[in-house]
Amino acid sequence: MNIEFHGKVVVVTGAAHGFGRAMAAAFAARGAVIWACDLLEDELRET
Ligand SMILES: NC(=O)c1ccc[n+]([C@@H]2O[C@H](COP(=O)([O-])OP(=O)(O)OC[C@H]3O[C@@H](n4cnc5c(N)ncnc54)[C@H](O)[C@@H]3O)[C@@H](O)[C@H]2O)c1
Repeated sequence: MNIEFHGKVVVVTGAAHGFGRAMAAAFAARGAVIWACDLLEDELRET
């Protein structure tokens, strides 16, 4: 499946680790702007 998200904003909670990090990367790779949050500020910055 090849879906594009240009012009879309995706909100990802728990984006410092695991599924949240993977989803943030996957949506960004398909053109979305990511609004990410997590309790772990330093690791969220890595995402
Ligand atoms: N890993 C699996 O196989 C699996 C399977 C089914 C369901 N789940 C569920 O999916 C979710 C994510 O799993 P994961 O493996 O990616 O977990 P993970 O622990 O790797 O990541 C969870 C992230 O959420 C953040 N977080 C926790 N509370 C938060 C809050 N109040 N606000 C913002 N961020 C917060 C943590 O800091 C962490 O970075 C969990 O609810 C888990 O139970 C996981």
